[in-house]
This record gives sequence, C-alpha cells and structure tokens, in this order.
Amino acid sequence: MSTIIISFYLIFILIHTHLSFSTNQLNSSSCKKGNPIDECWRCDPNWETNRKHLADCSFGFGRNAIGGRDGQFYTVTDSNNDNPLNPIEGTLRYAVIQDDPLWIIFQQDMTIQLKEELVMNSYKTIDGRGYNIEISNGPCVTIWNVTNVIIHGIYIHNCLPAGNSLVRDSTTHYGMRGVSDGDGISIFKSRDIWIDHCTLARCYDGLIDAIFGSTAITISNNYMLDHNEVMLMGHSDEFVEDKRMQATIAFNYFGEGLVQRMPRCRHGYFHIMNNVYVGWKSYAIGGSANPTINSQGNIFIASDDDSLKEVTKRESPLGYEDWKNWNWRSEGDMMVNGAFFTPSGQKSSDKYVKASSMVAQPASSIAKMIQQAGVLDCQIGKSC
Ligand SMILES: *[C@@H]1O[C@H](CO)[C@@H](O)[C@H](O)[C@H]1NC(C)=O
Repeated sequence: MSTIIISFYLIFILIHTHLSFSTNQLNSSSCKKGNPIDECWRCDPNWETNRKHLADCSFGFGRNAIGGRDGQFYTVTDSNNDNPLNPIEGTLRYAVIQDDPLWIIFQQDMTIQLKEELVMNSYKTIDGRGYNIEISNGPCVTIWNVTNVIIHGIYIHNCLPAGNSLVRDSTTHYGMRGVSDGDGISIFKSRDIWIDHCTLARCYDGLIDAIFGSTAITISNNYMLDHNEVMLMGHSDEFVEDKRMQATIAFNYFGEGLVQRMPRCRHGYFHIMNNVYVGWKSYAIGGSANPTINSQGNIFIASDDDSLKEVTKRESPLGYEDWKNWNWRSEGDMMVNGAFFTPSGQKSSDKYVKASSMVAQPASSIAKMIQQAGVLDCQIGKSC
C-alpha cells in the first residue's frame, strides 16, 4: 500500500530533479553524477586502469582512509575453499590478512560463502567494480582493531553469526573468535574506514555496526533494504570512549523493508547528509547517551501509517529533561508525507561545525542519486 505512495513521491521528485538537471547541463560540460564522490571517478572511461584513484575521492570523516592505495593489486581467483585458520592463496581471506597494503580485485563474478568472519588487516581495499561480487549466506566482514579499510561495490546479504573458532587476522597471528553478531560489516575499535556503493540486506544483526571506540568513518552511496536493525553507532551508553566517534553518513538510499537504526547513535558526532529514506517501520534516526546529530539535506518520506511519521527516536531513562540538551538538528531536510524531525539542544551552528564536515546539497538536488546507490554496474572501458 504505502509502496505505491512512496513510488509516487519518488517519481515526482525525480521528474523535478531531471528538469533542473537538464538545465544545468546546458551551462556545464562537467560530469554530473549527483555527488562529489561519484563525480571524482565515475566519468573516467579508464576507471579500471585507474582503480586506485578511488582512494582520493572520499570525503567526510572517513576521507583519510587510503585502503590499499600504496600497495600492489591482488586478484581473487578462488571463491570456494575458505580456510579461516590457514587461508589459501587466491581466496579473498588470503588477501585481507596480508600485512602489506593491497588493492584487492576479482577475476570474475563471484558468490563467496565464508566459514567464519572475514577478519581484515589494515590498509586493504576490497574493490568489486567490474564484476558481481557477493558475500552472503555465512559470516561476513569484520574490521577489528585496524585502520585504513575501503570496501566498494560488494553485495553483502543474509549474513549469519559464527565463531567459537580459530581465525587468522594477519600472517603472524590468529586467535579464538567468540560468537559473532552476524553483521554485514562490523567495525570494532578501528579508524579511517570508508564503505561506498555497497548493497546490504537481510543480515542476522546489523547491516553496518561501528562500535568500541571506532571513528573516522564514511558510509556513502550504499543501498540498504529488507532489514530490521540497520546501523548501530556506539557500543553502549556506558562505553564513553565512543565520544570520539565521528561518522559521515551520506548519499545512501535507505530503501524498502527497513525498520529502525538508520543509524542509532551513542556519544559521538554524526553528520547525516543527502540520504533518501523511504517508509521506515519504526524510526529512522535514533540514539541515546547524548550523541550529536547533524541532519542536512536528506529526503525523509514517511509511510502512510500515522504512528510512523517521526524520523527521530531518543532513548533516555530520564526522558525529556535529559534529551532536551542533546544537539540534534535538521537543516534543509525535505519532509514528505507528514514526516517530521524533533530537534533538541543548541541550534547554533558552531555546535555542529567540524573540520571534515562538508556542506550538504539542497535536498531537492539529490533525488536522482537514489537510482545510483548500491553496487554499480561498471563496464570495463566505459565510464561507470
Ligand atoms: C590492536 O592493535 C594494536 C596496534 O596494532 C596492537 O598493538 C594490539 O595488540 C591490538 N589489540 C588486540 C586486542 O589485538
């Protein structure tokens, strides 16, 4: 039912955007992909030979993530044979545990079903461009106590818990992993992380969770769908090290079948800009323990259910007397079908200014990118 209404609004916004886009083209020969990350690399027909240029295209708090830019390429050739303790050459797991930086690419389309979490080492890029790469129906990606990871163009779905097992996390170290949550991508005590143009759906726990003192994170251009607890940012109310967390959530399409946590935040600073949300089934942006929420230039399309119009949700045992001081603002967001955002705290802009924040575009100019969020269909030799 509400799908029809949502489609109507999207078509309206798309037509509107298309008109203004055509006008812009008359004045400019530059490549218009709708956002600065994509404009940085997608217009290059030689993106395949210039793959590492992607590492220079990030922005926001995860902008310093260089992944495997300064290392060699490694081509994954083997989608089977996952050996968590002694990874086999040619597999994705073999590539991600190496100690040197690596830019990891794939030989062909692959569906990878892992036996245990894929525990990554620092300075790695997993770059799925050019092929359909899925990680699914088993444990998925774990970024644990490392830095500089880029994950781009991977379809991650139906992720499951695993654990109580030995897993290698570098060439010189392996350890006993407890039972894992079953996240799509789990970021734990890590920094300089960029997740771009992935499609994520139907995992056992979160699609992307960032906890335990993680920071310097950008989550951009992803398409998320069919899932309950979408993104948790912050370990627990008591874990104050998450005060250092700074995350940019930009240009994502929070699509059909999502319930809550887009994201659910604790303690840190969250710049949520130029995303599109359609019909959350509980709430879109939530939090506890005094996080700062800077929501700019998003499109929030509520479902028809009158009880599901509010974008925000706060959890505090002390209630309003506590959360009235939390800094949550909505600026330039487009509210559709009765959606509303409940602001709180200081409205003054100096509370929200951070060195790596970038200025959001007007909400009306971002709708066309919803067709382009998630894994792209990049053909070698053509602009993507
Ligand atoms: C986390 O990484 C640091 C730096 O590489 C290392 O010294 C430390 O032992 C790691 N901690 C754990 C619990 O593995």
